[in-house]
Amino acid sequence: MPKPLSFDVLAPLPAQIVPAANRIAALEIVRAEIGDCSRCPLAYAGRHTIVFGDGDPNARLMFVGEGPGADEDASGLPFVGKAGQLLNNMIAAMGLKREKVYIANIVKCRPPGNRVPEFVEATTCSQFLLRQIDIVRPEVIVALGATAATYLLGVKQSLASLRGQWHSARGAKVAVTYHPAFLLRDPRQKVEAWKDLQRVMAEMGLTSPKRSS
Ligand code: URA
Repeated sequence: MPKPLSFDVLAPLPAQIVPAANRIAALEIVRAEIGDCSRCPLAYAGRHTIVFGDGDPNARLMFVGEGPGADEDASGLPFVGKAGQLLNNMIAAMGLKREKVYIANIVKCRPPGNRVPEFVEATTCSQFLLRQIDIVRPEVIVALGATAATYLLGVKQSLASLRGQWHSARGAKVAVTYHPAFLLRDPRQKVEAWKDLQRVMAEMGLTSPKRSS
């Protein structure tokens, strides 16, 4: 795979921030532009629904995953299957509500058999995620897994080497952590992912909700 260009190199940062009140409309324009997309091979690989992204257009925190799975392809919403339930728990543990963050993926169409998106698929789709990020202007982006980190940051490094430090993309601080689907397969790594999320919380001034006894 060639080394992808980072989201910072793909396009200059927009000169102006989209005012909070205009963000829903701005995102709708991007969605309309995508249309019934046939720009990459995923359009012909059994996709049912384009999964645009979901959440608060004024979110301080954005999560970026890899690509829709079967549940997302059926519903049109990101992270609604088993991995999505774990992501919801992770968000709640951070003291946040899912509706208050923004969630999107590197590719908006389901790769067949949930395979990793090909370079051409990810780089073709990047332009739209880039614009979503520029509209929402999150303070922090959490890259969920290697695919999100690779394309957002334009790096080909192990997840281990990317975790535990701050990166940047489109004016946001970027933290890298494990993909929830990986955590479902290897729950022992949840401790490590929680460390990553705690760094994000410290950066954003968030505190964990008190547990009721
Ligand atoms: N995995 C992802 O990367 N994204 C989704 O939306 C669902 C599962």
